[in-house]
Amino acid sequence: MGASVELIMALSLKARSVFLGAPGAGKGTQAKEVAAKCALAHISTGDMLRAEVAQGTELGKQAKGFMDLGKLVPDDVIIGMVQKRIALPDANAWILDGFPRTVVQAEALDRSLPKAQALSHVVYFAVPEQVLFGRLTGRRTCSKCGAIWHVETKPTKTSGICDACGGPTVQRSDDHPDKINQRLVEYRTLTEPLLTYYRGRNLLRELDANRAPAIIFKELLQLMQ
Ligand code: AP5
Repeated sequence: MGASVELIMALSLKARSVFLGAPGAGKGTQAKEVAAKCALAHISTGDMLRAEVAQGTELGKQAKGFMDLGKLVPDDVIIGMVQKRIALPDANAWILDGFPRTVVQAEALDRSLPKAQALSHVVYFAVPEQVLFGRLTGRRTCSKCGAIWHVETKPTKTSGICDACGGPTVQRSDDHPDKINQRLVEYRTLTEPLLTYYRGRNLLRELDANRAPAIIFKELLQLMQ
Protein backbone atom coordinates (compact mmCIF):
# COMPACT_ATOMS: atom_id res chain seq x y z
CA MET A 1 0.00 0.00 0.00
CA GLY A 2 1.80 3.17 -1.13
CA ALA A 3 1.46 6.77 0.04
CA SER A 4 3.62 9.85 -0.15
CA VAL A 5 6.32 10.25 2.51
CA GLU A 6 5.15 13.82 3.18
CA LEU A 7 1.65 12.69 3.94
CA ILE A 8 2.87 9.99 6.31
CA MET A 9 5.19 12.33 8.18
CA ALA A 10 2.47 14.91 8.62
CA LEU A 11 0.08 12.31 9.89
CA SER A 12 2.52 10.88 12.39
CA LEU A 13 2.66 14.22 14.16
CA LYS A 14 -0.90 14.62 15.29
CA ALA A 15 -3.52 11.94 14.86
CA ARG A 16 -5.60 10.62 17.73
CA SER A 17 -8.17 8.62 15.85
CA VAL A 18 -11.01 6.28 16.54
CA PHE A 19 -11.79 3.65 13.90
CA LEU A 20 -15.48 2.85 14.10
CA GLY A 21 -17.41 0.23 12.17
CA ALA A 22 -19.14 -3.12 12.25
CA PRO A 23 -17.31 -6.40 12.89
CA GLY A 24 -15.38 -7.23 9.72
CA ALA A 25 -15.46 -3.68 8.34
CA GLY A 26 -11.66 -3.74 7.99
CA LYS A 27 -10.68 -1.59 10.98
CA GLY A 28 -7.92 -3.92 12.16
CA THR A 29 -6.48 -4.46 8.68
CA GLN A 30 -6.14 -0.72 8.07
CA ALA A 31 -5.15 0.21 11.62
CA LYS A 32 -2.15 -2.14 11.55
CA GLU A 33 -0.99 -0.66 8.24
CA VAL A 34 -1.47 3.00 9.14
CA ALA A 35 0.00 2.62 12.63
CA ALA A 36 3.11 0.85 11.35
CA LYS A 37 3.73 3.34 8.56
CA CYS A 38 2.91 6.46 10.55
CA ALA A 39 4.42 5.66 13.96
CA LEU A 40 1.10 5.66 15.78
CA ALA A 41 0.19 3.34 18.64
CA HIS A 42 -2.42 0.79 17.50
CA ILE A 43 -4.71 0.22 20.45
CA SER A 44 -7.08 -2.64 19.66
CA THR A 45 -9.37 -3.52 22.54
CA GLY A 46 -10.21 -6.86 20.88
CA ASP A 47 -6.49 -7.79 20.69
CA MET A 48 -5.92 -6.62 24.27
CA LEU A 49 -8.82 -8.71 25.53
CA ARG A 50 -7.71 -11.80 23.59
CA ALA A 51 -4.23 -11.41 25.12
CA GLU A 52 -5.75 -11.19 28.63
CA VAL A 53 -7.82 -14.33 27.93
CA ALA A 54 -4.76 -16.20 26.62
CA GLN A 55 -2.77 -15.24 29.73
CA GLY A 56 -5.63 -16.31 32.01
CA THR A 57 -5.68 -13.00 33.90
CA GLU A 58 -8.59 -11.95 36.11
CA LEU A 59 -9.67 -9.42 33.46
CA GLY A 60 -9.44 -12.15 30.79
CA LYS A 61 -11.62 -14.47 32.86
CA GLN A 62 -14.22 -11.70 33.29
CA ALA A 63 -14.20 -10.91 29.55
CA LYS A 64 -14.17 -14.43 28.10
CA GLY A 65 -17.79 -15.33 28.82
CA PHE A 66 -19.04 -12.21 27.05
CA MET A 67 -16.70 -12.60 24.08
CA ASP A 68 -17.65 -16.27 23.64
CA LEU A 69 -21.29 -15.21 23.38
CA GLY A 70 -20.53 -12.46 20.86
CA LYS A 71 -21.56 -9.85 23.41
CA LEU A 72 -19.79 -6.68 24.44
CA VAL A 73 -17.67 -6.83 27.57
CA PRO A 74 -19.08 -4.55 30.33
CA ASP A 75 -18.16 -0.87 30.01
CA ASP A 76 -16.34 -0.59 33.36
CA VAL A 77 -13.96 -3.44 32.47
CA ILE A 78 -13.09 -1.96 29.08
CA ILE A 79 -12.88 1.67 30.18
CA GLY A 80 -10.35 0.88 32.93
CA MET A 81 -8.22 -1.15 30.50
CA VAL A 82 -8.15 1.63 27.88
CA GLN A 83 -7.49 4.39 30.39
CA LYS A 84 -4.39 2.53 31.58
CA ARG A 85 -3.21 1.97 28.01
CA ILE A 86 -3.55 5.57 26.82
CA ALA A 87 -1.67 6.78 29.88
CA LEU A 88 1.49 4.94 28.73
CA PRO A 89 4.35 7.05 27.33
CA ASP A 90 3.98 5.82 23.70
CA ALA A 91 0.36 6.93 23.57
CA ASN A 92 0.60 10.52 22.37
CA ALA A 93 -0.70 9.68 18.94
CA TRP A 94 -2.83 6.62 18.44
CA ILE A 95 -5.54 4.72 16.65
CA LEU A 96 -8.25 3.32 18.87
CA ASP A 97 -9.57 0.24 17.08
CA GLY A 98 -12.74 -1.18 18.61
CA PHE A 99 -13.16 1.47 21.32
CA PRO A 100 -15.41 3.23 22.12
CA ARG A 101 -18.29 0.92 21.31
CA THR A 102 -21.03 2.41 23.48
CA VAL A 103 -22.04 5.96 24.32
CA VAL A 104 -20.91 5.35 27.93
CA GLN A 105 -17.43 4.43 26.64
CA ALA A 106 -17.35 7.51 24.37
CA GLU A 107 -18.23 9.79 27.27
CA ALA A 108 -15.54 8.16 29.42
CA LEU A 109 -12.98 8.70 26.64
CA ASP A 110 -13.94 12.39 26.40
CA ARG A 111 -13.38 12.75 30.14
CA SER A 112 -10.05 10.88 30.07
CA LEU A 113 -8.33 13.01 27.44
CA PRO A 114 -6.71 16.29 28.46
CA LYS A 115 -7.82 19.23 26.26
CA ALA A 116 -4.43 19.38 24.56
CA GLN A 117 -4.79 15.74 23.53
CA ALA A 118 -8.41 15.73 22.40
CA LEU A 119 -9.67 13.30 19.78
CA SER A 120 -8.70 14.39 16.24
CA HIS A 121 -11.46 12.51 14.41
CA VAL A 122 -13.53 9.35 14.17
CA VAL A 123 -13.31 7.39 10.93
CA TYR A 124 -16.44 5.39 10.18
CA PHE A 125 -15.77 2.30 8.02
CA ALA A 126 -19.01 1.90 6.05
CA VAL A 127 -19.59 -1.61 4.63
CA PRO A 128 -22.96 -3.16 3.67
CA GLU A 129 -23.98 -5.80 6.19
CA GLN A 130 -24.26 -8.59 3.58
CA VAL A 131 -20.52 -8.20 2.84
CA LEU A 132 -19.45 -8.56 6.48
CA PHE A 133 -20.47 -12.16 6.95
CA GLY A 134 -18.16 -13.54 4.25
CA ARG A 135 -15.28 -11.41 5.48
CA LEU A 136 -15.62 -12.78 9.00
CA THR A 137 -16.20 -16.47 8.24
CA GLY A 138 -13.16 -16.47 5.92
CA ARG A 139 -10.83 -14.53 8.22
CA ARG A 140 -7.73 -16.22 9.61
CA THR A 141 -5.41 -14.54 12.10
CA CYS A 142 -1.80 -15.36 12.87
CA SER A 143 -1.59 -16.50 16.48
CA LYS A 144 2.05 -15.34 16.65
CA CYS A 145 2.20 -11.89 15.01
CA GLY A 146 -1.51 -11.03 14.67
CA ALA A 147 -1.44 -10.58 10.86
CA ILE A 148 -4.91 -10.75 9.33
CA TRP A 149 -5.63 -13.02 6.35
CA HIS A 150 -8.64 -14.26 4.43
CA VAL A 151 -9.01 -17.69 2.86
CA GLU A 152 -10.32 -16.22 -0.42
CA THR A 153 -9.40 -12.57 -0.70
CA LYS A 154 -6.03 -12.61 1.12
CA PRO A 155 -4.84 -16.20 1.42
CA THR A 156 -1.47 -17.22 2.83
CA LYS A 157 0.89 -18.98 0.41
CA THR A 158 0.71 -22.15 2.51
CA SER A 159 -2.62 -22.90 4.13
CA GLY A 160 -2.44 -22.40 7.91
CA ILE A 161 1.00 -20.72 7.91
CA CYS A 162 1.44 -16.95 8.22
CA ASP A 163 3.41 -15.43 5.30
CA ALA A 164 4.74 -12.68 7.56
CA CYS A 165 6.25 -14.73 10.42
CA GLY A 166 5.69 -18.44 9.75
CA GLY A 167 3.36 -18.75 12.76
CA PRO A 168 0.13 -20.77 12.70
CA THR A 169 -3.01 -19.02 11.45
CA VAL A 170 -6.27 -19.72 13.25
CA GLN A 171 -9.95 -18.92 12.97
CA ARG A 172 -11.16 -16.70 15.79
CA SER A 173 -13.69 -18.48 18.00
CA ASP A 174 -16.17 -15.60 17.53
CA ASP A 175 -15.98 -15.84 13.72
CA HIS A 176 -18.50 -18.69 13.58
CA PRO A 177 -21.93 -17.86 12.11
CA ASP A 178 -24.00 -17.84 15.32
CA LYS A 179 -21.46 -15.58 17.08
CA ILE A 180 -21.24 -13.28 14.09
CA ASN A 181 -25.01 -12.75 14.13
CA GLN A 182 -24.90 -11.85 17.82
CA ARG A 183 -21.97 -9.46 17.28
CA LEU A 184 -23.92 -7.72 14.53
CA VAL A 185 -26.91 -7.33 16.86
CA GLU A 186 -24.64 -5.80 19.52
CA TYR A 187 -23.17 -3.49 16.91
CA ARG A 188 -26.54 -2.24 15.65
CA THR A 189 -27.95 -1.78 19.14
CA LEU A 190 -25.03 -0.42 21.13
CA THR A 191 -22.40 0.91 18.73
CA GLU A 192 -24.32 2.47 15.84
CA PRO A 193 -25.65 5.27 18.10
CA LEU A 194 -22.05 6.53 18.19
CA LEU A 195 -22.44 7.72 14.61
CA THR A 196 -24.96 10.29 15.83
CA TYR A 197 -22.83 11.04 18.91
CA TYR A 198 -19.71 11.88 16.89
CA ARG A 199 -21.57 13.52 13.99
CA GLY A 200 -23.02 15.89 16.56
CA ARG A 201 -19.49 16.75 17.72
CA ASN A 202 -18.35 17.30 14.14
CA LEU A 203 -15.73 14.56 14.44
CA LEU A 204 -17.16 11.91 12.11
CA ARG A 205 -15.46 11.19 8.78
CA GLU A 206 -17.10 8.57 6.61
CA LEU A 207 -15.10 6.11 4.53
CA ASP A 208 -16.49 3.74 1.89
CA ALA A 209 -14.74 0.59 3.16
CA ASN A 210 -16.26 -1.73 0.58
CA ARG A 211 -13.37 -1.27 -1.84
CA ALA A 212 -9.88 -2.68 -2.30
CA PRO A 213 -7.68 -2.29 0.82
CA ALA A 214 -5.01 -0.25 -1.02
CA ILE A 215 -7.57 2.33 -2.17
CA ILE A 216 -9.04 2.55 1.31
CA PHE A 217 -5.57 3.06 2.78
CA LYS A 218 -4.83 6.05 0.54
CA GLU A 219 -8.16 7.68 1.30
CA LEU A 220 -7.72 7.02 5.01
CA LEU A 221 -4.49 8.98 5.09
CA GLN A 222 -6.27 11.93 3.53
CA LEU A 223 -9.22 11.66 5.91
CA MET A 224 -6.88 11.57 8.90
CA GLN A 225 -5.22 14.90 8.08
P1 AP5 B 1 -12.83 -6.99 18.08
O1 AP5 B 1 -11.63 -7.83 18.00
O2 AP5 B 1 -12.67 -5.51 18.18
O3 AP5 B 1 -13.77 -7.40 16.89
P2 AP5 B 1 -14.75 -6.51 15.94
O4 AP5 B 1 -15.01 -5.12 16.25
O5 AP5 B 1 -15.93 -7.38 15.91
O6 AP5 B 1 -13.95 -6.30 14.70
P3 AP5 B 1 -13.24 -7.36 13.90
O7 AP5 B 1 -11.86 -7.60 14.44
O8 AP5 B 1 -14.12 -8.58 13.78
O9 AP5 B 1 -13.22 -6.69 12.44
P4 AP5 B 1 -12.32 -5.60 11.77
O10 AP5 B 1 -13.17 -4.42 11.41
O11 AP5 B 1 -11.08 -5.32 12.55
O12 AP5 B 1 -11.98 -6.37 10.42
P5 AP5 B 1 -10.60 -6.98 9.89
O13 AP5 B 1 -9.68 -5.87 9.49
O14 AP5 B 1 -10.07 -8.04 10.78
O15 AP5 B 1 -13.71 -7.41 19.34
C1 AP5 B 1 -13.93 -8.77 19.65
C2 AP5 B 1 -14.77 -8.86 20.92
O16 AP5 B 1 -14.07 -8.25 22.02
C3 AP5 B 1 -16.13 -8.15 20.88
O17 AP5 B 1 -17.14 -8.96 20.31
C4 AP5 B 1 -16.37 -7.88 22.36
O18 AP5 B 1 -16.80 -9.05 23.04
C5 AP5 B 1 -14.99 -7.53 22.88
N1 AP5 B 1 -14.70 -6.09 22.80
C6 AP5 B 1 -13.71 -5.49 22.07
N2 AP5 B 1 -13.74 -4.16 22.24
C7 AP5 B 1 -14.77 -3.90 23.08
C8 AP5 B 1 -15.32 -2.71 23.62
N3 AP5 B 1 -14.83 -1.49 23.33
N4 AP5 B 1 -16.38 -2.82 24.45
C9 AP5 B 1 -16.89 -4.02 24.79
N5 AP5 B 1 -16.43 -5.19 24.31
C10 AP5 B 1 -15.37 -5.13 23.46
O19 AP5 B 1 -11.13 -7.66 8.51
C11 AP5 B 1 -12.01 -8.76 8.54
C12 AP5 B 1 -11.71 -9.67 7.32
O20 AP5 B 1 -12.00 -8.95 6.12
C13 AP5 B 1 -10.22 -10.10 7.21
O21 AP5 B 1 -10.16 -11.41 6.77
C14 AP5 B 1 -9.64 -9.14 6.15
O22 AP5 B 1 -8.60 -9.75 5.41
C15 AP5 B 1 -10.86 -8.84 5.28
N6 AP5 B 1 -10.83 -7.48 4.75
C16 AP5 B 1 -10.44 -6.35 5.40
N7 AP5 B 1 -10.57 -5.27 4.59
C17 AP5 B 1 -11.06 -5.75 3.42
C18 AP5 B 1 -11.41 -5.12 2.19
N8 AP5 B 1 -11.30 -3.80 2.02
N9 AP5 B 1 -11.90 -5.90 1.19
C19 AP5 B 1 -12.05 -7.25 1.36
N10 AP5 B 1 -11.71 -7.89 2.49
C20 AP5 B 1 -11.24 -7.15 3.52
